[in-house]
Amino acid sequence: MLKNKQLNAWVAQMKTLCQPDDVVLCDGSTEEYDRMWTLLIEAGAAKKLNETLRPNSYLVRSDPADVARVESRTYICPEKAADAGPNNNWIAPQEMKSTLLGLFDGCMRGRTMYVIPFSMGPVGSPIAHIGVEISDSPYVVTNMHIMTRVGSKVLDELGEYGDFVPCIHSVGSPLGADQKDVPWPCNPENLYIAHFPETREIWSFGSGYGGNALLGKKCFALRIASAMARDEGWLAEHMLILKLTNPEGKSKYIAGAFPSACGKTNLAMLMPTVPGWKVETVGDDISWMKFGDDGQLYAINPEAGFFGVAPGTGMSSNENAMLSLTENCIFTNVAETDEGDIWWEGMTDDPPAHLIDWLGNDWTPKSETPAAHPNARFTVSAAQCPAIADEWEDLKGVPISAILFGGRRATVVPLVNEAKNWTQGTFFGSIVASEKTAAAAGKIGELRRDPMAMLPFCGYNMAEYWGHWLNIGQHDGAQLPKIYYVNWFRKDEDGQFMWPGFGDNSRVLEWIFNRCDGNAEAIETPIGNLPAAKDLNLEGLGLSEHHTEQLLNVDVEGWLNEIPLIHEYYDQFGDHLPEALRTEVKELQKRLESH
Ligand code: OXD
Ligand code: MN
Repeated sequence: MLKNKQLNAWVAQMKTLCQPDDVVLCDGSTEEYDRMWTLLIEAGAAKKLNETLRPNSYLVRSDPADVARVESRTYICPEKAADAGPNNNWIAPQEMKSTLLGLFDGCMRGRTMYVIPFSMGPVGSPIAHIGVEISDSPYVVTNMHIMTRVGSKVLDELGEYGDFVPCIHSVGSPLGADQKDVPWPCNPENLYIAHFPETREIWSFGSGYGGNALLGKKCFALRIASAMARDEGWLAEHMLILKLTNPEGKSKYIAGAFPSACGKTNLAMLMPTVPGWKVETVGDDISWMKFGDDGQLYAINPEAGFFGVAPGTGMSSNENAMLSLTENCIFTNVAETDEGDIWWEGMTDDPPAHLIDWLGNDWTPKSETPAAHPNARFTVSAAQCPAIADEWEDLKGVPISAILFGGRRATVVPLVNEAKNWTQGTFFGSIVASEKTAAAAGKIGELRRDPMAMLPFCGYNMAEYWGHWLNIGQHDGAQLPKIYYVNWFRKDEDGQFMWPGFGDNSRVLEWIFNRCDGNAEAIETPIGNLPAAKDLNLEGLGLSEHHTEQLLNVDVEGWLNEIPLIHEYYDQFGDHLPEALRTEVKELQKRLESH
């Protein structure tokens, strides 16, 4: 019997619906964690790694049909389709519920139902929120232990009448009386990841992988939380949070939104090449921000761990991530070495001579397929990161001085561009895009817009979300962060990256820090405030004058070519689009034309 009445009733209801053999209330203990691994090893899904090389760590292989988030089966289900917006798949809530009730009926037969009370954010923080995930996957339990705060302290915080977001998850594969289980049960043919923003519920069926199954992350902390944030006047964003300290020891906190595959985790854990500067990590994926009494936006990382893409992570690209992964980790769909350790593409320059690949087959450097799945993941506690900031679990959060928006643009968008004000910053966020194909210099490639890096994660109509951003800018007494549009991915005429990226991004961070401090120059241009070459620390980079000029250039023609594309993109939102954004485009055009 659970103290919280609402939780008690919901668990009873889900038990009746799903008909599990057992119900276990998770306490978040080490004993529970170890017990889950015993089950996963017995099932043939997991393997303990070499205890000397990688202590207390596990390798898991998923079903090859269940390896990533599935956006095409992700639904936002408010009463009205317009409230989900053209950015989401929509099914009416009654219809979706009736489909789900059919699928969940008896779906946990032969399995155990785990009840996982979790907190997104440090327990007791005024910015944190509580969820409870019900799942029939022991793999989900282990990952939730690392990625969130699980257990009785959460139930204590919830008390008798506290609110929580109910998150029901099933792999969708009930077992008959004498049926032997498979190592990774799932049901890809009947996949649904459904969100009900009006009743604040999440229902996920058919997948055991990542964001489909660890419901605290994208489902709660972004899709449902974005709708909560709209209703309550705060921000739930797909943003890293970093702490930047200058050589004098002064610190500022910066949040940054970047679409997948733009180096977000690397930026959160960056090692500056600028002498005397330091970056520490508060979060690598999600930021919840609420106004403090002083009018500043205070951010917490609602997660407790990193669920990072493994391939491409190595000592040269992200030393801090690699140093976080020495023990107590979960590795999913990576390759296994002959020594019982792990490997993935990009971890070392030279691959080992022999591996077992993510599918369980022999692999050598001559093999034609990758050894690790491209979306192979590591799960690790944030506390293990050598660069974690001391205050990463501060209950009051950290005050944000600057917000970065970035995409992958070979052309047009300069290295860094400061918005004149919050409204222009919101406009920058709304037009963030990446090229789908490498664009020829001077031409625009096919663009995939990913506003605020929230396209797959905004739990309501994107245009209303922009409206919410604009409203945040009107908050009484707000001391708003400055907003920057950054682009590490400019290419020259030969298709070569012009900017070195990685640790050298600290040069841009240095300018941003000093701008926030009132200590750096900028030039007012038609597109925003840009640094002149002399305002950026480019010492020792060996950038050619031509490249420097290109990186900091206002490409008038390129921007003018984009204006109709922005209007066209906005058109799909009809009259949901805030007029202020339309005005931003028109004024940008005017400034460019008279430049
Ligand atoms: C993630 C993503 O996994 O953004 O963080 O896809
Ligand atoms: Mn992400």
